[in-house]
Amino acid sequence: VFAHVVQAPEDPILGVTVAYNKDPSPVKLNLGVGAYRTEEGKPLVLNVVRKAEQQLVADRSRVKEYIPIAGLADFNKLSAKLMFGDDSPAILENRITTVQCLSGTGSLRVGGEFLAKHHHQPTIYIPTPTWGNHPKIFTLAGLSVKTYRYYDPTTRGLNFHGLMEDLGSAPSGSVVLLHACAHNPTGVDPTLQQWEQIRKLIRSKGLLPFFDSAYQGFASGSLDADAKPVRMFVADGGELLAAQSYAKNLGLYGERVGALSIICGSSDVARRVESQLKLVIRPMYSSPPIHGASIVATILKDRDLFHEWTIELKGMADRIISMRHQLFDALRKRGTPGDWSHIIKQIGMFTFTGLNKEQVEFMNKEYHIYMTSDGRISMAGLSTKTVPHLADAIHAAVTG
Ligand code: LMR
Repeated sequence: VFAHVVQAPEDPILGVTVAYNKDPSPVKLNLGVGAYRTEEGKPLVLNVVRKAEQQLVADRSRVKEYIPIAGLADFNKLSAKLMFGDDSPAILENRITTVQCLSGTGSLRVGGEFLAKHHHQPTIYIPTPTWGNHPKIFTLAGLSVKTYRYYDPTTRGLNFHGLMEDLGSAPSGSVVLLHACAHNPTGVDPTLQQWEQIRKLIRSKGLLPFFDSAYQGFASGSLDADAKPVRMFVADGGELLAAQSYAKNLGLYGERVGALSIICGSSDVARRVESQLKLVIRPMYSSPPIHGASIVATILKDRDLFHEWTIELKGMADRIISMRHQLFDALRKRGTPGDWSHIIKQIGMFTFTGLNKEQVEFMNKEYHIYMTSDGRISMAGLSTKTVPHLADAIHAAVTG
């Protein structure tokens, strides 16, 4: 009965790792998926995560019962504080609901399904380009997906004019997906002044912001600084949605731990919204897993662990910044034609190199370098040892 089923293509991001794993070359380099690696090219489990896990294992009173549909209450409260700040008006006024979800993707999907069912304007505007999973998540959630201009390939920066024009002509009530910081794949974020203009436009047009916060702490190295744009939208008293992921900033990729928050007009509305979120979650996966959220809650509520986390996080962010400088210098040293200053200007995990599909294919074939076909490279996958190999490959691709 399934003979008609056709072979689906590999995922454009996760498929890069599949291809990388099959390559026997000793010099192969995976710069595809956005996952942090150490200088030795190894995945990193943060020290604070190890410590939190030890505490959890030592606690014999812990059981493996189902947790509530909305997840661990502690985790939800602490996650909201991390995103919106301890003194957030929305939290103080109880106008917020936060539910634990399966990392960023799960949070976006639950939020999308809630909007498709309960929002009067089920259209979402996503930036061009954006993370490849966004259009799929929101289409399958039942929203109509439209785009707004974001990146300008000529300046390798923000197309602020295009963004304002497109959001300015979006029908009232439309949802707008915004990357909270460290835009994926471009590494280009609005300045705080531009955020303020975007906020004013969104509020004056009656649009609904939906933040995807997958990199809090990774852009600047500071959790609070990276949350500023989101907090600006909370301070004006308006409504919004925010999806949080702990994949990158706590390195909890495979634990699938994240949260969806919806800030509402009143506490009464927030409670009703939460009841509907539970109706989305229950038939989808019943209730979320315990382990990852327990690790996060343990770290967020312990002052020492939290402090240690901020140091480890800054260490990861700084290593990525150092990779940016090393790659930039290596290209300059080789006299590679072109302006490569975007490598040091862009922020977060990725550099949107500007290399085209053919150049990406060339680097893959000749140098065993793996990256997404849009020319995005994960700076977190580089090390001092591998920078020369990448620089040689880019130089050859550009001059060849
Ligand atoms: C990425 O963009 O590489 C990450 O967000 C991982 C993923 O799931 O795509």
